[in-house]
Amino acid sequence: MSEQTLTITDNRTGQTIDLPIEDDTVPAIGLRQLKVQADDFGMMAYDPGYTNTASCKSRVTFVDGDRGILRYRGYPIEQLAEKSTFLEVAYLLLFGELPTAGELTDWNDRVMAETQIDGGLKDLLTTFGADAHPMGVLISAVAAMSTLYPDSKQVHDSQNRMQQVLRILGQLPTAVAFAYRNRLGSAHIDPDNALGYSDNFLHMMGFSGDGEVDPVLARAMDVLFILHADHEQNCSTSALRNIASSDADPYCAIAGAIGALYGPLHGGANEAVLRMLAEIGSREKIPAFLDRVKNREVRLMGFGHRVYKNYDPRAQIVKKIAYEVFEATGSNPLIDIAVELEGTALEDDYFVSRRLYPNVDFYSGIIYQAMGFPVEIFPVLFALGRAPGWLAQWMELMSDTEQRIARPRQIYLGEAERPYVSIDERG
Ligand code: CMC
Repeated sequence: MSEQTLTITDNRTGQTIDLPIEDDTVPAIGLRQLKVQADDFGMMAYDPGYTNTASCKSRVTFVDGDRGILRYRGYPIEQLAEKSTFLEVAYLLLFGELPTAGELTDWNDRVMAETQIDGGLKDLLTTFGADAHPMGVLISAVAAMSTLYPDSKQVHDSQNRMQQVLRILGQLPTAVAFAYRNRLGSAHIDPDNALGYSDNFLHMMGFSGDGEVDPVLARAMDVLFILHADHEQNCSTSALRNIASSDADPYCAIAGAIGALYGPLHGGANEAVLRMLAEIGSREKIPAFLDRVKNREVRLMGFGHRVYKNYDPRAQIVKKIAYEVFEATGSNPLIDIAVELEGTALEDDYFVSRRLYPNVDFYSGIIYQAMGFPVEIFPVLFALGRAPGWLAQWMELMSDTEQRIARPRQIYLGEAERPYVSIDERG
């Protein structure tokens, strides 16, 4: 077998170094051997946006962006979306294997036993005004949980970690539903632990009316949660890993992750897509809108991805679910605009040459709207789905002995040392 090393020659000095190659990767720290002067700091890798930097070794989720492949713990997303439930997928992400029937029952019971939220959290959630964005409310709710569960600081105790995992998975939907109903001025609906996870969430949101939640909608919600459950080292997960690398408790880390998710380039895109489709308004206006995109006035929201340079496999599934949901809810007129927008973009050289395809956010909002969710809550639904992924990545981080506090370097281009100038001498 050929030697597993990378030889680098520094042409400034003629110095040659060999770096070990493992998993098609070289250790960045090895570059520091390259110096012009003996007392130099040494060379670094420059990578804004981390486009080509592996920050960790992970066994949770595999994405092949060129081929449009997504697998959780080796299982293709298409199979999980068809056959699994969200809580089963959460178990898979967290523990690495699909549960047996007994393990799954036990797991469901343990998560659903944690669905009640603390009175202090309810008090906090009632203080937000009707115009408070639900993502800001969710960040506050999760941060507040850090104060309610100070035992969560014991991040090196694996049993304690699992207790927080159960609390987060169990309580987030209840907190979201409580805040939502409070905003509407409607009575709080208690969790019903006999229901499935997504069924119970929709029940608490008030989607059951006087009867039961439509099973088509409950299943659609469950599948949408599955599709969002993890996506390896994306912006919010990396934010979570950065925060948790300082041994911050998981509530603080997840509050930070939700903050990262809130942005319109990440999980806020589902909300932005709906606003964009509403702004376009009719199919005739699509060409003019795409001209604005190509003139770089606006982005085509729900299109493009750092990793996928092919159709996002999640978007294929979401598009299919949309039509299933419409059978139950009646169609959303925005779907016609979205389908034509997609088709027109995929024939346009601007998008083709940049390999820009629909991502998971392109069609999800259309479903959420058809189900009856207000637009501003869409990113919250993304966060609920992503929670098990964040937690699985946190668990992995906390047991990874190679990990250290996240602390990137910089290239300093500022002023060299200069003496302080007193205020009366400044020109
Ligand atoms: N509309 C128009 N042009 C785009 C778009 C878009 N949505 N996305 C990328 N481009 C162009 C971009 O202008 C650039 O062109 P050029 O090379 O001529 O300057 C090229 O494509 C590469 O784009 P980039 O911004 O360098 O790509 P990135 O990997 O840094 O950004 C992205 C990825 C997802 C932030 C970006 O594609 C985007 O802004 N998409 C719209 C927002 C969106 O839908 N986000 C959801 C992502 S999927 C859900 C999740 O967050 O996990």
